Amino acid sequence: MSITWYQLDGHLKRLAIAKRVPIVGQFELTARCNLRCKMCYVVRAKDDKDAMARERTAEEWIRLAEEARDAGMLYLLLTGGEVFLRQDFAKIYEAVARMGFSTTIYTNATLITPAIARWLGGIPPSRIEVTLYGASPETYAKVCGDAEGFRRAVHGLDLLLAEGIGVSLRTTIIDSNVDDFDELARLAQKRGITLQVVNYVSPRREGCGTGPQTERLSPQELARFEMHIRKMGEKKEKKATADNRPLDDCAFEEDRADKIIGDMLSRPVEDAFNCLAGKCAFWMTWDGRMTPCALMNQPETLLFDRAFTEAWKELQTMCAAIPACSACMRCSLKKDCMVCPARLYNETGFYDQPAAYLRELAKERGVIMNNE
Ligand SMILES: C[S@@+](CC[C@H](N)C(=O)[O-])C[C@H]1O[C@@H](n2cnc3c(N)ncnc32)[C@H](O)[C@@H]1O
Repeated sequence: MSITWYQLDGHLKRLAIAKRVPIVGQFELTARCNLRCKMCYVVRAKDDKDAMARERTAEEWIRLAEEARDAGMLYLLLTGGEVFLRQDFAKIYEAVARMGFSTTIYTNATLITPAIARWLGGIPPSRIEVTLYGASPETYAKVCGDAEGFRRAVHGLDLLLAEGIGVSLRTTIIDSNVDDFDELARLAQKRGITLQVVNYVSPRREGCGTGPQTERLSPQELARFEMHIRKMGEKKEKKATADNRPLDDCAFEEDRADKIIGDMLSRPVEDAFNCLAGKCAFWMTWDGRMTPCALMNQPETLLFDRAFTEAWKELQTMCAAIPACSACMRCSLKKDCMVCPARLYNETGFYDQPAAYLRELAKERGVIMNNE
């Protein structure tokens, strides 16, 4: 009997949840970035001295990867900020590459040079996900504060593809780039790669709120946008069937990992998390704190001064103590809602208070579905 990689991946994660093995590790190597994206949840200037002083060293990240590997980590995400800003990124990457993880790198690709692409092509990660926040220099100027960034990002993307590296695109949609989405989908399609949409814009993790500066779509706009991409997906499916070709060569995906993993977990009702966080996944912040996921500043356990397994155990205990939102559990809109403790906390300041934005979005999703 043969199984697909997708089935094996699900099986491994289910086992890891049952045994509380930290199979997924996410290392945020820096908070610094060369772009200034309006909605980004972690963004420090590229030459921020305070951030530089508090970043952990290459040796510390490598030692952490070794300890996590010994505890069962198989999937590793390297992200930031922008990892290619770190002068010692090559040292970190080459060391973790030798450890045999299934490694993904998130990058804005603007700093990828022919030499960097060649180097990565020689020891390729499993995947590089290139974030692209628009389809023109004008949109890049509005969203990322750097018009020239668009050309450099697309050039970087093409350099990576030319090396035969597995690349996909990611985007987050806000007011300033929503009109670019179809063009972004075409850009991905032309290159035969996937475009993944992060459909929820979180308030900033480090406490900057959801002010209008983040330009996130209103619940109504987001629900309409989701329907738009669903219809594009259906069209694509029909076309693929007519052409008799596989879907994946021009796919884009909605980022609904929460739903997929939620189904996989069949969690007990009192469990607040509907994802892998704190069960078999952890996030390491750039300044050395272990948290459940990218969007959460708390709960945290300090890691670098003690054994990995000790910190991981403590994180699990802290996550298990987070209360589920009982009003959300009883809510009739639950099936259309992307509720989770990270989002509730960032929206309301509490883990167990319903959030108006999420509730409205769930309501709009229902209305739009019924009208279709
Ligand atoms: C913070 S960026 C950093 C990594 C890298 N510099 C890049 O450009 O991919 C990583 C991912 O976070 C997502 N992201 C950024 N801001 C977000 C927010 N406020 N809420 C949810 N996701 C966000 C983006 O879609 C991006 O792909």
